[in-house]
Amino acid sequence: MKVLSTIKEIRAYLEQKKAGGKTIGFVPTMGALHKGHLELMLRAKEENDLLVVSIFVNPVQFNNADDLKNYPRTLEEDTKKLESVNCDVLFIPDVEEMYPQVVTTQYNFGTLETVMEGRFRPGHFNGVAIVVKRLFDIVTPDRAYFGEKDFQQLAIIKKLVAMEKIPVEIIPCPIVRETDGLAMSSRNRLLSPEERKLAPFIYKTLQEAKRRRNHICANPLRQMIINIFEGNKNFKLEYFDIVNDKTLQPINGWNDKVGTVACVALWLGNIRLIDNIRII
Ligand code: PAF
Repeated sequence: MKVLSTIKEIRAYLEQKKAGGKTIGFVPTMGALHKGHLELMLRAKEENDLLVVSIFVNPVQFNNADDLKNYPRTLEEDTKKLESVNCDVLFIPDVEEMYPQVVTTQYNFGTLETVMEGRFRPGHFNGVAIVVKRLFDIVTPDRAYFGEKDFQQLAIIKKLVAMEKIPVEIIPCPIVRETDGLAMSSRNRLLSPEERKLAPFIYKTLQEAKRRRNHICANPLRQMIINIFEGNKNFKLEYFDIVNDKTLQPINGWNDKVGTVACVALWLGNIRLIDNIRII
């Protein structure tokens, strides 16, 4: 595995590979890799000649200084995991390399960014879009792989690619779960052992929402699930919404022709977790 930290080096290396007709599959990450990331990588490896992974904890997407400071950084462990999936290139730029000047780009994703995460994390998706655009410009991948756990992020990235006419195919990949149902996330390692035991309640409640969909209308179901989340005092609910999977706007009734996803964000102690489940 080639480990490169400057834009000049990675561009030169990948240009040479592309000139030789190689295709590039790209998995951008912030490190603290888990099985969910590795699944994206295995798929990228299967569908492309070269697997490129970036690890960059992107300061401009954090709207909370403590969250940025506490974000797990585990490069040594990550490197071993990347070797186990035969990653070809690891790109690990530092902040000066990625942002030599102050970034002022302001994207407008319309109503995609005013709901759910957008309501609670102002500026977050603008920061994600800035770094993803920059990484795409550097790596010029044929395909890029993103997990569906960050469902809204995926919608924003698809929109970014369309708006900026970036020639890359975005490949969504299913959520990977622990055996007790907890969605894999880099943040899970920040949970205390007690919190970790409580965490499967999130997916259990989402499954309950899915089970009840044939028996109750969308709005009362939403309220019922909010009551279940709010009734558990170990958690602090930020939002639970049942949304159209393209527009991310709340739905008012079931329609078998409209893809529908239930999304949740909540706090368990000091850790913010998100998850979602497809309802239709
Ligand atoms: O999903 C993530 O890990 C990050 O938001 C991403 C896409 C790597 C951008 O920093």
